Amino acid sequence: MDKDPLLQTRPQDQSLDVLILAAGLGTRMKSARAKVLHELGGLPLITYVCRAAASLNPKKIYVVVGHEAADVERAVETEVGDRAEFVTQSEQRGTGDAVMAARKLLEDSESVVLVLSGDVPLIHSETLKNFIEKHRASGAACTILSVRLENPTGYGHIVRDEGSQFIRIVEQKDAISEEQQIKEINSGIYCFASRKLFAALERVKPTNKQGEYYLTDVPQILLSDGEKVDVYLHGDAREVSGINTRAELAEFENLRRRNTIRKLMVEGGVTFLDPSHTYISAEATLGKDCIIYPDVAIEGKSTLGDSCEIRSGTRITNSHLGNDVFIKDHCVIIDSEVGSNCAVGPFAHLRMNTVLEDTAIVGNFVEVKKSRIGRGSKSMHLTYLGDATIGERTNIGAGTVTCNYDGKTKHPTIIEDDVRIGSDTMLVAPVRVGRGSVTAAGSVVTEDVPPDTLVAGVPAVVKKKLKNGDG
Ligand code: UD1
Ligand code: CA
Repeated sequence: MDKDPLLQTRPQDQSLDVLILAAGLGTRMKSARAKVLHELGGLPLITYVCRAAASLNPKKIYVVVGHEAADVERAVETEVGDRAEFVTQSEQRGTGDAVMAARKLLEDSESVVLVLSGDVPLIHSETLKNFIEKHRASGAACTILSVRLENPTGYGHIVRDEGSQFIRIVEQKDAISEEQQIKEINSGIYCFASRKLFAALERVKPTNKQGEYYLTDVPQILLSDGEKVDVYLHGDAREVSGINTRAELAEFENLRRRNTIRKLMVEGGVTFLDPSHTYISAEATLGKDCIIYPDVAIEGKSTLGDSCEIRSGTRITNSHLGNDVFIKDHCVIIDSEVGSNCAVGPFAHLRMNTVLEDTAIVGNFVEVKKSRIGRGSKSMHLTYLGDATIGERTNIGAGTVTCNYDGKTKHPTIIEDDVRIGSDTMLVAPVRVGRGSVTAAGSVVTEDVPPDTLVAGVPAVVKKKLKNGDG
């Protein structure tokens, strides 16, 4: 039998499309940057929304972009790759106008359209799954996710009649004072039947205090057409709160940080001496029995093995530590790797793909850039190692400098196994010191040193006595 072309697919059989609104500048952030690019736990806000969207396995994730479109697109693609498609809203004329920008792509898709805001980062995928289920089961043209807030200022309020039936959403700025007291607010998360959404959106007018096309006018229009509109009240207000100001961003950051650290303590067996003064990014992982002192920041995709001890004032960014690593106070470790049983600091700086092999030690006021330090080798004091490859069991004396830059190019230094570099040696790169060799204190090494060889710089000469007497 031929399928009746007028027979619409039932909601439960319709596919899912997600539409994320992310074109706004976010005036209340008072920033030159688009709001959805501001970071929470080291990740752009939009990343969290994309993650939640992707977990629903939609047919497509459409993202409406405008302000800083290229950067927003990059952030989205980093998270969901080509599962996203972008729609440009050239002028930001309101949330209704933003959805309208996707009309051509969505109107005929016969899908359930889940609308999300790019500035609501804490939304859980479970919540969205339940919400979509409710929408599909009820056959409504529109389902709104609402929450109750003690302080509903700034949001759209859900207006109901005496019988508690939904009537409309009224924005804070357009509400009369009674309506402003309504604690049930619109989360900005909706499910729509695609075709009905656009049929109603067409009739939205910018006749409000902000002169904008409000998406929030659509439910009322659908109701007046005799369509069914449902409101689903969600219990956790935090989860669906939007971020509009930097103060709110800081509140969310605090909350996220506390949750991350709590989880690490309770489930991960990590000790924090002062959880309220420790920063751990959303993406870092820490092994059990790590001990984290106050004023430590572990940023980006850093990983720490088991039983690491990180003392105060240290920052670790996108770096990897093995097991039993001891990072003493005030170190900066960026894009680097520290093997098991290493010690670093105090006041050491590792950067640009530096690698410390197991049991290496880097000490006080040592900077290591783009270098590899072999097993059991040590550089304990006041040293710069750049573009260097250092073998095993080698000792680098205090004050050693790899003179790696001639003003134009960076040159490599190679120091083989079992070498002793005397204090204050200048290694003028490119240069190689062969295995088992020794440089005397103060040597300026400008040519390669063969293995098992002693080299010495020009020693100071006693010139004359400066003062009479014997003191
Ligand atoms: C919106 C809702 C409000 C709800 C609140 C929940 C409207 C009119 N109001 O208000 O009822 O309580 O969210 O957080 O929808 N955007 C665009 N293009 C535009 C305007 C906005 O893409 O022209 C995007 C923004 O980038 C943002 C999202 O839409 O990601 C929401 O916009 P925002 O200005 O934050 O809306 P609210 O005033 O918070
Ligand atoms: Ca908002």
